[in-house]
Formats: sequence, C-alpha cells, structure tokens
Amino acid sequence: MRSPDKQKLIAAALKARRHAVAPYSNFQVGAALLTRQGRIIGGGNVESASYGLTCCAERVALFKALTEGERDFVSIAVVARAPQGPTPCGACRQLLAEYAPAATVLVADAAKPERIRTFKVAALLPLAFRHVP
Ligand code: THU
Repeated sequence: MRSPDKQKLIAAALKARRHAVAPYSNFQVGAALLTRQGRIIGGGNVESASYGLTCCAERVALFKALTEGERDFVSIAVVARAPQGPTPCGACRQLLAEYAPAATVLVADAAKPERIRTFKVAALLPLAFRHVP
C-alpha cells in the first residue's frame, strides 16, 4: 500500500474514533477496514457497564463490514491515544485471521497519526485456530 493510501485509512479510523463509546475506560479506539473494491468501513469500541460485553473497534468495524456483505479485505487501520498506536487484542487477531487473513494492519497513535506501523495479520497471530469439520 502506498503511503497516501495508508494515511487515508488512518484518517478514516480517526473519524470513526470520534463515535467510540468508552465511558468506563475513557480509551477511545477507532478502526477502518479497506475492501478490495476500495470501500472503507469504520467502527469504534463500544463498552458496557458489564465490562466483559465490551466490543473492540476492530471487531465493530469487521462485523459491520461482514454483515453488509463485504468479504475481501486489504487492510485495517487502528488508532487510539497510545504510544506507537494500539496493536489489536488476541480476540480481534483471531477474527482478523479468519475473515481478513491477507490484510495488513496499520496502527498509529491518534496524537501522531502520520507515524504508521504496518503488520500482517498472519504475523500478529501465527498458528491461528481454524475450524476443521
Ligand atoms: N480496545 C479496542 O477497541 N481495540 C484494541 O485493540 C484494544 C482495546 C478497547 C476495548 C476497551 O473498550 C478499551 O479499548 C480499553 O481496553
């Protein structure tokens, strides 16, 4: 991916972060998925008073995209106020390994969005579990 395209996806994640619902942690995360066709779908984390029900921004974006019929993902950007940016949690890595195995993961600190780190989903979760019927 070219640098301007990465910046554009990070900008979409920053926009999605504005609608994060994180009243308990006050840690707002934004994510944006890029499809092969060039569509961008954003999501923010949503927290619950029953903390374990919380859903990360990555999964909100992924579930939105999947349930709108999208299946082919090129990249996902994730931003939060975290030094060097937030790397996805284990649960999100599992879902990305299942539904976006070829995607790159772009992460950036929301306060320094021009500094982007790039990973591959397969590198973030080696030996991911797969269902064998
Ligand atoms: N969170 C995300 O949305 N994505 C991550 O990659 C890590 C954590 C959320 C979950 C919770 O709402 C808040 O950040 C603090 O953990």
